[in-house]
This record gives sequence, structure tokens and C-alpha cells, in this order.
Amino acid sequence: MTNAFDTLKNRDAAAIMSSYGRYPLAVSRAEGCRLFDLEGREYLDLLAGVAVTSLGHCHPEIADALCTQARILCHVSNLFYQPDQVRLAEELIATWQPGRVFYCNSGAEANEGAIKLARRFMRTVKNRDAYEIITLTGSFHGRTLATVTATGQTAFREHFHPLPGGFKSVEAGDIEAMKQAITEKTAMVLVEIVQGEGGVNIMSADYLTAIQNLCREHDILFGVDEIQTGLCRTGRFWAHQHYGLRPNIVTCAKALGNGFPIGAVLADTETSNGFTPGSHATTFGGSGLATAAALKTLEIMKRDKIAERAEAMGKKTLALIDDVMKKHPDAIDNYRGLGLMIGIELKVPGLPVWQKLLDRGFVCNLAKGKVLRLIPPLIIEEDDIARFTQALSDILDETA
Ligand SMILES: Cc1ncc(COP(=O)(O)O)c(C=O)c1O
Repeated sequence: MTNAFDTLKNRDAAAIMSSYGRYPLAVSRAEGCRLFDLEGREYLDLLAGVAVTSLGHCHPEIADALCTQARILCHVSNLFYQPDQVRLAEELIATWQPGRVFYCNSGAEANEGAIKLARRFMRTVKNRDAYEIITLTGSFHGRTLATVTATGQTAFREHFHPLPGGFKSVEAGDIEAMKQAITEKTAMVLVEIVQGEGGVNIMSADYLTAIQNLCREHDILFGVDEIQTGLCRTGRFWAHQHYGLRPNIVTCAKALGNGFPIGAVLADTETSNGFTPGSHATTFGGSGLATAAALKTLEIMKRDKIAERAEAMGKKTLALIDDVMKKHPDAIDNYRGLGLMIGIELKVPGLPVWQKLLDRGFVCNLAKGKVLRLIPPLIIEEDDIARFTQALSDILDETA
């Protein structure tokens, strides 16, 4: 007899294209840092919908804001002025530097918008035929054709040829390679401060500052993809603020609506002039519902000092992981993290460890087959983290 999970899995396979490698878990409900399966079994969520639900699942104030907004204004399109869109843009700019915002619906779409803005800015404002986008190996920028081409990992591009031209990836960390790569055709260098999908690779302040300096020297744009790192995840509102960087373009999405889809491209005022009416658009971008969710998310992040919380909890988590590593030097190679974006690189095969964690009620991500990636809701409590590290230690005891 098949159980409810197997039945659902079979229906899923029959009705939904199999583009995702799914976890062996069906989620019927989520609340705060907890997921509940079809039988009501509880799991600690250390994944947060892939760095999305930073304030926890179904945050009551965001749920209220969405319900209220659903009766006021859901969507009218970007043909109209909308007060909340302006207010949200002002709030976002206040976290950053003078500039303007373009709204969209996802991370890939934000990067796609940034690429288009960079190219159009070069052609129409700078009068230069500069179009090339340089990214780093190990990066991840999305799944549209342009962003998958920008992504510095070839696996994501397989069988999608022909790909758009005008992209190259250089070795992350190698500033000489970056110097060689920049030409008169370069429009923008686009980087992540911490590569999330790449396995939690933290770029150094010196390296990123050197890239920014090169961009200034060559009068090209410096773009930062903050889709995963932005909105308090790393212990600052924007991860690039750890290093005092001043990018021309920043992209964000994921946590902006705490689960309601919304993305944004932020550009300094001069760069933002690359877009003029009719040059770029999306039907749903910055809808009434999306802006209501994002406004409430930003309000709570500020009020509850979520960046400071992420920084403090990140440090506590690293200390707990350090204890596990000291106990299991043969199983853990290293760990790294910035705020609550943490990777534990294993020396032992990752999949069995990840599966055992899931069996014990802990949901995290496994990157590159060997890095346990923790990107929990930023409201997670120390007790929960301690339960996770204890479970990890127990599992490593068993596999030793
Ligand atoms: C750094 C980064 N950029 C872009 C994306 C793509 O975002 P989305 O899946 O919303 O298109 C992701 C998603 O994981 C990401 O981590």
C-alpha cells in the first residue's frame, strides 16, 4: 500500500515537469522556523525557502499586510503611479545610496534587468559600444538564458545552446585574470559577496575592493548580486556594506517579500538613466501585493534589528560548529560564514549526512555534494541551532 507521500510523489511526477531534484519531504504547512509534513511531523528549517523567509514562515504581520492589501489594490500594472511603489523605493534607497529602483519578480529577472541596464547605459548615456558582462567562476546569477550564461558554472548551461554572447567568467579570487579580462567592450563586472549556490564562498574585502577600483579606472559599472546576501542575511543590510563598497548596481529578490515574489534592481542615479520610458518593463513588477509584503518586511527588519541579530546568531552558530569540528576533525574539513549564511565543508560524503539530518527533523541544503549550507530564517533561536549542531555531531559519531 502506498502512503500519502508516495501518492503525492507519483502525482507530482505525472503532472509537473521534472526540472527539480526534490527532497524526500512534502510540506503541508510552515510557521516561523518550522516545517510540517503531511503527517504533521515537525522539521527545523535551516533553508528558509532558499534564503527567502528571513522573518520566518507565515509571519503574522506580513500575512495581515497581504490580506489587507488584497482588498485595496492587488495589481494595476506599471502604467500607473502607485504610492506604495514609491515608498518602497525610497525605503530601499535609504538603506543604500542615492539612486533609483526597478521592480521585477525574481532574482534572475533582477540580474537580467541589471545586464540590460548596464548595456543600455553604456550605449545611450556613455556613447560607448560596451556590452560585455564579466562574472566570476563559481557564481550563480539565475536560470534565464542571459543569467545562466552569466553564471560561472558550466553545468547550468548544458544543452541550452546557443547562448547569448557578451559574457565571460574569470577565476574568482584572481585579480590578474580580471585585469586581463576587462577590455573596451566591458560594460559591467557582476559579483556576489558570498557565493551561495557555489557553496558559500566568501570573497575577500581586498579582492572586491580591487575589482571596484578596476571598474572605476576603466569607467565601467561595478554590479553586486545581493539576491541571496542582501536584506540582513550576512549581518549587514547589504553584504557589500561589510567592505565599504559602493557598487553602481545592486540586485535583490528572495527575502524582499519574505516569500511573496518581488525583485529589484537598484542603481545609482547616473546609471539609472540607462533606462528611459519603454526601454524595460514587466507586467507584475512592484504590484500592490508585492510592495505591501516588501514594505512590511523592511519595517520589521528595521524595527527588530534583524541585521544585528543575524550577525550575533551567525557568530554563535560558527562557535557551535567549531566545537563539532574539534570533535570530528576527520569528518569536517572547514566551515565558513558571514552572518547566517554558513557552509560546513565535509570530508566525508555529504549526502548520507544530509539525509540523516533530514531523518532527524533538520532541513538544510547540500551544495556541491559536500557543503552543508545553512541559510535559516534570521529569527532562529540559539537553542534550535544547538539542537542542529548536536544532531550533526551525533551523526558524525555514528559514521566515524
Ligand atoms: C546570487 C543569486 N543570484 C540569482 C539567483 C536567482 O534567483 P531566482 O531563483 O529568484 O531567479 C539566485 C538564486 O538562488 C542567487 O542565489
